[in-house]
Amino acid sequence: MYLLGKALGVITAVLYCVAILNFFIKWGNRKWIMKLPKENAFRGYYQTAMKFLVKNHRFFGFGAALVMVAHMVLQILFQWVSITGLVTAGLAVVAIILGIIMFKSKKRSAFMLWAHRSAVIALTVAFIVHLITKR
Ligand code: HEM
Ligand code: HEM
Repeated sequence: MYLLGKALGVITAVLYCVAILNFFIKWGNRKWIMKLPKENAFRGYYQTAMKFLVKNHRFFGFGAALVMVAHMVLQILFQWVSITGLVTAGLAVVAIILGIIMFKSKKRSAFMLWAHRSAVIALTVAFIVHLITKR
């Protein structure tokens, strides 16, 4: 159970990274890929991957949250109640709620995007503290 709890923590982190890739893959697209000619093969592969990540973004977010709950339950039962873990989980819930609001809204504002992004940045900082201190 101890190892499973740890493994679930790592899987949660990996799924968050896939969700965060949304930002970096779009950024790379704007900065480099759009400048390539339309018939360039790499541009095609890149944009196919980008479409997949953007389309399924919310499922990676929800998937991360599900695995996170499993990690949390096992760690609380078999390890200890991690305060930094709880803070990270709380921020993840905020990010996900903001994501859902944005997903459902008809016109997405820059403010909403920044609110969601800010929650994700805070979540990342909390996660790093959680990893370093484990407390
Ligand atoms: C977004 C939320 C979270 C993520 C991404 C996450 C991820 C991780 C990761 C990657 C580790 C390190 C595993 C290793 O050492 O190999 C870890 C450790 C740990 N986590 Fe979390 N965690 C989260 C939330 C929580 C919550 C809510 C709790 C419990 C209240 C918790 C309790 C713990 C504990 C006790 C450890 C130390 C395990 C050990 O070294 O034996 N985590 N977590
Ligand atoms: C906690 C997990 C999540 C993380 C780490 C995360 C991360 C991000 C990031 C970094 C962006 C910015 C992308 C950009 O700059 O264009 C973004 C955009 C967005 N996120 Fe999330 N997100 C998460 C969960 C969710 C969920 C659960 C939903 C919806 C149900 C959601 C909906 C959106 C929407 C609608 C956008 C706007 C742009 C787009 O569609 O790609 N996110 N997310």
